[in-house]
Amino acid sequence: MSDLLAALNALRERLTEVPQADERRLRELKTEILGRKAGALTHILAAVPSLEPKDRKAVGGVANALKRDFETAFAARERELKRASVAAGDLDLTMPGRAGWQGGLHLVTQVVDEICEIFRELGFTRAVGPEAESERNNFYALNFPHDHPALDAQDSFYVGDGVVLRTHTSPVQIRTLEAYPPPIRVVIPGQVYRRDPFDPSHSPVFEQIEGLVVDEGVTFVDLKAALTAFARRFFTSDTTVRFRPSYFPFTEPSAEMDVRCQICKGSGCPTCKQSGWMEILGSGMVHPAVLDNCGVDSERYTGYAFGMGPERIAMNRYGVSDIRLFWEDDVRFLSQFARPHR
Ligand code: DAH
Repeated sequence: MSDLLAALNALRERLTEVPQADERRLRELKTEILGRKAGALTHILAAVPSLEPKDRKAVGGVANALKRDFETAFAARERELKRASVAAGDLDLTMPGRAGWQGGLHLVTQVVDEICEIFRELGFTRAVGPEAESERNNFYALNFPHDHPALDAQDSFYVGDGVVLRTHTSPVQIRTLEAYPPPIRVVIPGQVYRRDPFDPSHSPVFEQIEGLVVDEGVTFVDLKAALTAFARRFFTSDTTVRFRPSYFPFTEPSAEMDVRCQICKGSGCPTCKQSGWMEILGSGMVHPAVLDNCGVDSERYTGYAFGMGPERIAMNRYGVSDIRLFWEDDVRFLSQFARPHR
Protein backbone atom coordinates (compact mmCIF):
# COMPACT_ATOMS: atom_id res chain seq x y z
CA MET A 1 0.00 0.00 0.00
CA SER A 2 2.73 2.50 0.89
CA ASP A 3 4.63 1.33 -2.20
CA LEU A 4 1.67 2.22 -4.33
CA LEU A 5 1.30 5.64 -2.72
CA ALA A 6 5.02 6.26 -3.26
CA ALA A 7 4.67 5.22 -6.90
CA LEU A 8 1.74 7.59 -7.30
CA ASN A 9 3.76 10.44 -5.80
CA ALA A 10 6.59 9.74 -8.20
CA LEU A 11 4.14 9.79 -11.09
CA ARG A 12 2.66 13.08 -9.93
CA GLU A 13 6.16 14.64 -10.32
CA ARG A 14 5.97 13.81 -13.99
CA LEU A 15 3.01 16.11 -14.52
CA THR A 16 5.59 18.89 -14.89
CA GLU A 17 6.94 17.24 -18.01
CA VAL A 18 3.65 17.66 -19.83
CA PRO A 19 3.70 21.42 -20.53
CA GLN A 20 7.21 21.08 -22.03
CA ALA A 21 6.51 18.09 -24.26
CA ASP A 22 6.54 18.40 -28.04
CA GLU A 23 4.09 16.42 -30.12
CA ARG A 24 6.12 13.25 -30.16
CA ARG A 25 7.06 13.37 -26.50
CA LEU A 26 3.44 13.98 -25.60
CA ARG A 27 2.40 10.80 -27.39
CA GLU A 28 5.12 8.86 -25.58
CA LEU A 29 4.08 10.27 -22.20
CA LYS A 30 0.47 9.33 -22.78
CA THR A 31 1.52 5.76 -23.52
CA GLU A 32 3.91 5.56 -20.55
CA ILE A 33 1.34 6.81 -18.08
CA LEU A 34 -2.14 6.05 -19.37
CA GLY A 35 -1.36 3.44 -22.05
CA ARG A 36 -3.89 0.67 -22.01
CA LYS A 37 -1.33 -2.11 -21.60
CA ALA A 38 1.92 -0.67 -20.24
CA GLY A 39 0.79 2.60 -18.67
CA ALA A 40 2.22 3.02 -15.15
CA LEU A 41 -0.97 4.58 -13.81
CA THR A 42 -3.06 1.98 -15.59
CA HIS A 43 -1.14 -0.72 -13.71
CA ILE A 44 -1.78 0.92 -10.35
CA LEU A 45 -5.49 1.35 -11.11
CA ALA A 46 -5.66 -2.31 -12.08
CA ALA A 47 -4.17 -3.34 -8.72
CA VAL A 48 -6.73 -1.37 -6.67
CA PRO A 49 -9.55 -3.96 -6.61
CA SER A 50 -7.28 -6.58 -4.96
CA LEU A 51 -6.37 -4.29 -1.99
CA GLU A 52 -7.85 -4.34 1.50
CA PRO A 53 -11.10 -2.34 1.51
CA LYS A 54 -9.66 0.62 3.45
CA ASP A 55 -6.51 0.80 1.32
CA ARG A 56 -8.65 0.45 -1.76
CA LYS A 57 -10.39 3.72 -0.99
CA ALA A 58 -7.21 5.66 -0.24
CA VAL A 59 -5.14 4.44 -3.16
CA GLY A 60 -8.10 4.46 -5.56
CA GLY A 61 -8.95 8.03 -4.66
CA VAL A 62 -5.41 9.30 -5.22
CA ALA A 63 -4.95 7.27 -8.40
CA ASN A 64 -8.20 8.44 -9.96
CA ALA A 65 -7.51 12.07 -9.08
CA LEU A 66 -4.06 11.75 -10.66
CA LYS A 67 -5.56 10.18 -13.76
CA ARG A 68 -7.89 13.17 -14.15
CA ASP A 69 -4.99 15.58 -13.66
CA PHE A 70 -2.97 13.86 -16.38
CA GLU A 71 -5.90 13.81 -18.76
CA THR A 72 -6.51 17.52 -18.23
CA ALA A 73 -2.80 18.31 -18.66
CA PHE A 74 -2.54 16.22 -21.86
CA ALA A 75 -5.61 17.85 -23.38
CA ALA A 76 -4.37 21.34 -22.53
CA ARG A 77 -0.96 20.65 -24.05
CA GLU A 78 -2.57 19.20 -27.19
CA ARG A 79 -4.63 22.33 -27.65
CA GLU A 80 -1.54 24.47 -27.21
CA LEU A 81 0.46 22.49 -29.76
CA LYS A 82 -2.37 22.66 -32.28
CA ARG A 83 -2.68 26.41 -31.89
CA ALA A 84 1.07 26.81 -32.34
CA SER A 85 1.09 24.73 -35.50
CA VAL A 86 -1.75 26.75 -37.00
CA ALA A 87 0.13 29.93 -36.16
CA ALA A 88 3.25 28.47 -37.78
CA GLY A 89 1.29 27.91 -40.97
CA ASP A 90 1.27 24.10 -40.89
CA LEU A 91 -2.46 24.27 -41.53
CA ASP A 92 -3.59 26.34 -44.51
CA LEU A 93 -6.75 28.00 -43.35
CA THR A 94 -7.26 29.61 -46.78
CA MET A 95 -7.57 26.21 -48.47
CA PRO A 96 -11.06 25.88 -49.96
CA GLY A 97 -13.29 23.44 -48.15
CA ARG A 98 -14.78 20.38 -49.80
CA ALA A 99 -17.66 21.39 -52.03
CA GLY A 100 -21.09 20.26 -50.92
CA TRP A 101 -22.85 17.65 -53.03
CA GLN A 102 -24.83 19.27 -55.79
CA GLY A 103 -27.11 17.52 -58.24
CA GLY A 104 -27.11 18.29 -61.96
CA LEU A 105 -29.13 17.55 -65.05
CA HIS A 106 -28.52 14.27 -66.87
CA LEU A 107 -26.54 14.75 -70.08
CA VAL A 108 -29.46 13.56 -72.21
CA THR A 109 -31.80 16.00 -70.46
CA GLN A 110 -29.33 18.79 -71.17
CA VAL A 111 -29.17 17.87 -74.85
CA VAL A 112 -32.98 17.59 -75.11
CA ASP A 113 -33.36 21.02 -73.50
CA GLU A 114 -30.74 22.52 -75.76
CA ILE A 115 -32.42 21.12 -78.90
CA CYS A 116 -35.88 22.27 -77.80
CA GLU A 117 -34.47 25.71 -77.01
CA ILE A 118 -33.08 26.05 -80.54
CA PHE A 119 -36.46 25.12 -81.96
CA ARG A 120 -38.15 27.53 -79.57
CA GLU A 121 -36.10 30.30 -81.14
CA LEU A 122 -37.31 29.05 -84.54
CA GLY A 123 -40.92 29.47 -83.37
CA PHE A 124 -41.77 25.99 -82.05
CA THR A 125 -43.59 25.28 -78.79
CA ARG A 126 -42.99 22.18 -76.69
CA ALA A 127 -45.63 19.45 -76.38
CA VAL A 128 -45.76 16.06 -74.66
CA GLY A 129 -47.87 12.92 -74.86
CA PRO A 130 -48.35 9.66 -72.90
CA GLU A 131 -45.95 6.72 -73.05
CA ALA A 132 -48.75 4.15 -73.10
CA GLU A 133 -50.47 4.80 -76.41
CA SER A 134 -53.25 3.32 -78.51
CA GLU A 135 -52.29 1.20 -81.50
CA ARG A 136 -54.38 3.60 -83.51
CA ASN A 137 -52.28 6.67 -82.59
CA ASN A 138 -48.97 4.83 -82.62
CA PHE A 139 -49.55 3.08 -85.96
CA TYR A 140 -52.79 3.25 -87.95
CA ALA A 141 -53.46 6.99 -87.82
CA LEU A 142 -49.84 7.43 -88.91
CA ASN A 143 -50.65 5.45 -92.04
CA PHE A 144 -48.87 2.23 -91.03
CA PRO A 145 -50.34 -0.72 -92.95
CA HIS A 146 -52.01 -3.32 -90.69
CA ASP A 147 -49.35 -5.89 -91.51
CA HIS A 148 -46.39 -3.62 -90.75
CA PRO A 149 -43.68 -5.52 -88.77
CA ALA A 150 -43.59 -2.84 -86.04
CA LEU A 151 -47.09 -3.99 -85.03
CA ASP A 152 -45.68 -7.39 -84.14
CA ALA A 153 -45.43 -8.24 -80.43
CA GLN A 154 -41.87 -9.29 -81.27
CA ASP A 155 -40.95 -5.67 -81.91
CA SER A 156 -43.17 -3.64 -79.62
CA PHE A 157 -44.21 -3.87 -75.97
CA TYR A 158 -47.97 -4.39 -75.70
CA VAL A 159 -49.44 -3.43 -72.34
CA GLY A 160 -53.04 -4.35 -73.09
CA ASP A 161 -55.49 -4.94 -75.86
CA GLY A 162 -54.75 -2.32 -78.50
CA VAL A 163 -52.35 -0.46 -76.17
CA VAL A 164 -48.57 -0.27 -76.68
CA LEU A 165 -45.69 1.52 -75.06
CA ARG A 166 -45.18 4.03 -77.84
CA THR A 167 -42.45 2.96 -80.22
CA HIS A 168 -41.80 6.55 -81.29
CA THR A 169 -42.97 10.07 -80.44
CA SER A 170 -44.87 10.35 -83.74
CA PRO A 171 -48.27 9.49 -82.16
CA VAL A 172 -48.09 12.89 -80.46
CA GLN A 173 -48.40 14.31 -83.99
CA ILE A 174 -51.85 12.74 -84.09
CA ARG A 175 -52.79 14.09 -80.66
CA THR A 176 -51.60 17.57 -81.61
CA LEU A 177 -53.39 17.59 -84.99
CA GLU A 178 -56.61 16.48 -83.30
CA ALA A 179 -56.36 19.00 -80.47
CA TYR A 180 -55.27 22.19 -82.24
CA PRO A 181 -56.12 23.80 -85.56
CA PRO A 182 -53.20 24.85 -87.82
CA PRO A 183 -50.86 26.71 -87.79
CA ILE A 184 -48.92 24.16 -85.72
CA ARG A 185 -45.24 24.26 -84.84
CA VAL A 186 -44.27 21.88 -82.06
CA VAL A 187 -41.35 19.84 -80.79
CA ILE A 188 -42.21 16.78 -78.71
CA PRO A 189 -39.52 15.22 -76.51
CA GLY A 190 -40.15 11.94 -74.73
CA GLN A 191 -39.16 8.35 -74.04
CA VAL A 192 -40.04 5.54 -76.42
CA TYR A 193 -39.88 1.74 -76.16
CA ARG A 194 -38.84 -1.07 -78.45
CA ARG A 195 -38.07 -4.73 -78.00
CA ASP A 196 -34.39 -4.14 -78.65
CA PRO A 197 -31.42 -5.70 -76.86
CA PHE A 198 -29.52 -3.65 -74.28
CA ASP A 199 -26.15 -3.35 -76.03
CA PRO A 200 -23.66 -0.55 -76.81
CA SER A 201 -25.87 0.94 -79.52
CA HIS A 202 -29.39 -0.19 -78.49
CA SER A 203 -31.62 0.23 -75.51
CA PRO A 204 -35.23 -0.96 -75.05
CA VAL A 205 -36.06 2.56 -73.87
CA PHE A 206 -34.62 5.71 -75.37
CA GLU A 207 -35.37 9.34 -75.97
CA GLN A 208 -36.75 10.96 -79.13
CA ILE A 209 -37.64 14.46 -80.18
CA GLU A 210 -40.43 14.79 -82.72
CA GLY A 211 -41.14 17.92 -84.72
CA LEU A 212 -44.31 18.90 -86.56
CA VAL A 213 -45.17 21.96 -88.64
CA VAL A 214 -48.54 22.29 -90.40
CA ASP A 215 -49.81 25.43 -92.09
CA GLU A 216 -50.92 26.69 -95.48
CA GLY A 217 -48.15 26.68 -98.07
CA VAL A 218 -45.52 24.70 -96.10
CA THR A 219 -43.03 23.08 -98.52
CA PHE A 220 -39.93 20.90 -98.48
CA VAL A 221 -37.86 24.11 -98.65
CA ASP A 222 -39.17 25.03 -95.19
CA LEU A 223 -38.18 21.60 -93.90
CA LYS A 224 -34.64 21.90 -95.27
CA ALA A 225 -34.24 25.47 -94.04
CA ALA A 226 -35.41 24.74 -90.48
CA LEU A 227 -33.40 21.53 -90.10
CA THR A 228 -30.25 23.04 -91.60
CA ALA A 229 -30.57 26.04 -89.29
CA PHE A 230 -30.99 23.67 -86.36
CA ALA A 231 -27.87 21.65 -87.27
CA ARG A 232 -25.76 24.81 -87.63
CA ARG A 233 -27.00 26.11 -84.30
CA PHE A 234 -26.51 22.83 -82.46
CA PHE A 235 -23.18 21.81 -83.99
CA THR A 236 -21.06 24.55 -85.60
CA SER A 237 -22.13 27.42 -87.85
CA ASP A 238 -20.19 25.94 -90.79
CA THR A 239 -21.70 22.43 -90.43
CA THR A 240 -22.66 20.89 -93.77
CA VAL A 241 -25.79 18.75 -94.01
CA ARG A 242 -27.18 16.46 -96.69
CA PHE A 243 -30.62 14.94 -97.24
CA ARG A 244 -31.00 11.36 -98.49
CA PRO A 245 -34.27 9.94 -99.77
CA SER A 246 -35.88 7.56 -97.29
CA TYR A 247 -39.22 5.99 -96.41
CA PHE A 248 -41.64 6.43 -93.51
CA PRO A 249 -45.35 5.55 -93.70
CA PHE A 250 -46.40 8.94 -92.34
CA THR A 251 -44.35 11.19 -94.66
CA GLU A 252 -44.11 11.55 -98.42
CA PRO A 253 -41.55 12.33 -99.65
CA SER A 254 -39.25 11.30 -96.78
CA ALA A 255 -35.61 12.12 -96.18
CA GLU A 256 -32.91 11.39 -93.65
CA MET A 257 -30.57 14.19 -92.74
CA ASP A 258 -26.84 13.64 -92.21
CA VAL A 259 -24.37 16.13 -90.78
CA ARG A 260 -20.64 16.17 -91.46
CA CYS A 261 -19.01 13.94 -88.87
CA GLN A 262 -18.11 16.24 -85.98
CA ILE A 263 -15.17 14.08 -85.00
CA CYS A 264 -13.20 13.75 -88.25
CA LYS A 265 -14.83 16.71 -90.04
CA GLY A 266 -15.59 14.45 -93.00
CA SER A 267 -12.28 12.71 -93.61
CA GLY A 268 -13.54 9.38 -92.23
CA CYS A 269 -13.13 7.84 -88.78
CA PRO A 270 -14.46 4.83 -86.81
CA THR A 271 -17.33 6.86 -85.33
CA CYS A 272 -18.81 7.64 -88.76
CA LYS A 273 -17.71 4.25 -90.10
CA GLN A 274 -15.38 6.06 -92.54
CA SER A 275 -18.31 7.73 -94.32
CA GLY A 276 -17.59 11.26 -93.12
CA TRP A 277 -21.31 11.69 -92.29
CA MET A 278 -23.52 11.11 -89.28
CA GLU A 279 -27.22 10.42 -89.67
CA ILE A 280 -29.09 12.51 -87.13
CA LEU A 281 -32.76 12.49 -88.07
CA GLY A 282 -35.63 11.24 -90.21
CA SER A 283 -38.03 13.71 -91.79
CA GLY A 284 -40.51 14.32 -94.56
CA MET A 285 -43.65 16.07 -95.72
CA VAL A 286 -46.65 14.99 -93.65
CA HIS A 287 -48.59 12.37 -95.64
CA PRO A 288 -52.02 13.72 -96.67
CA ALA A 289 -53.58 10.54 -95.25
CA VAL A 290 -52.29 11.52 -91.78
CA LEU A 291 -53.91 14.97 -92.05
CA ASP A 292 -57.16 13.37 -93.26
CA ASN A 293 -57.10 10.85 -90.38
CA CYS A 294 -57.01 13.77 -87.97
CA GLY A 295 -59.72 15.80 -89.68
CA VAL A 296 -57.30 18.38 -91.08
CA ASP A 297 -58.07 19.53 -94.64
CA SER A 298 -55.18 18.14 -96.68
CA GLU A 299 -56.18 20.22 -99.71
CA ARG A 300 -55.68 23.38 -97.76
CA TYR A 301 -52.81 22.48 -95.40
CA THR A 302 -49.39 20.90 -95.84
CA GLY A 303 -46.68 20.21 -93.30
CA TYR A 304 -43.38 18.63 -92.47
CA ALA A 305 -42.27 16.43 -89.61
CA PHE A 306 -39.03 15.07 -88.23
CA GLY A 307 -37.77 12.75 -85.53
CA MET A 308 -34.35 12.48 -83.91
CA GLY A 309 -32.57 10.54 -81.16
CA PRO A 310 -30.93 12.78 -78.54
CA GLU A 311 -28.81 9.94 -77.12
CA ARG A 312 -27.23 9.27 -80.50
CA ILE A 313 -26.62 12.99 -80.96
CA ALA A 314 -25.11 13.27 -77.46
CA MET A 315 -22.92 10.21 -78.12
CA ASN A 316 -21.57 11.79 -81.29
CA ARG A 317 -21.02 15.16 -79.74
CA TYR A 318 -19.38 14.00 -76.52
CA GLY A 319 -17.65 10.86 -77.78
CA VAL A 320 -19.71 8.45 -75.65
CA SER A 321 -19.31 4.95 -77.10
CA ASP A 322 -21.98 3.02 -75.21
CA ILE A 323 -25.65 4.07 -74.90
CA ARG A 324 -26.03 2.00 -71.71
CA LEU A 325 -23.93 4.55 -69.82
CA PHE A 326 -26.92 6.89 -69.99
CA TRP A 327 -29.09 4.39 -68.12
CA GLU A 328 -26.69 3.03 -65.54
CA ASP A 329 -26.74 6.22 -63.45
CA ASP A 330 -23.10 5.92 -62.43
CA VAL A 331 -22.21 9.34 -61.04
CA ARG A 332 -18.60 8.90 -62.07
CA PHE A 333 -19.83 9.04 -65.67
CA LEU A 334 -22.67 11.52 -65.23
CA SER A 335 -20.78 14.06 -63.10
CA GLN A 336 -18.38 14.70 -65.98
CA PHE A 337 -21.23 16.49 -67.71
CA ALA A 338 -22.85 18.03 -64.66
CA ARG A 339 -24.03 21.55 -65.09
CA PRO A 340 -26.01 23.18 -62.34
CA HIS A 341 -29.76 23.25 -62.76
CA ARG A 342 -30.84 26.59 -64.18
N1 DAH B 1 -40.79 7.98 -85.96
C1 DAH B 1 -39.57 7.70 -86.71
C2 DAH B 1 -38.78 6.60 -85.98
O1 DAH B 1 -39.01 6.39 -84.83
C3 DAH B 1 -38.73 8.92 -86.80
C4 DAH B 1 -39.34 9.93 -87.73
C5 DAH B 1 -39.03 9.90 -89.06
C6 DAH B 1 -40.21 10.86 -87.27
C7 DAH B 1 -39.57 10.82 -89.94
C8 DAH B 1 -40.79 11.78 -88.15
C9 DAH B 1 -40.44 11.75 -89.49
O2 DAH B 1 -41.65 12.70 -87.75
O3 DAH B 1 -40.98 12.66 -90.34
O4 DAH B 1 -37.94 6.01 -86.55
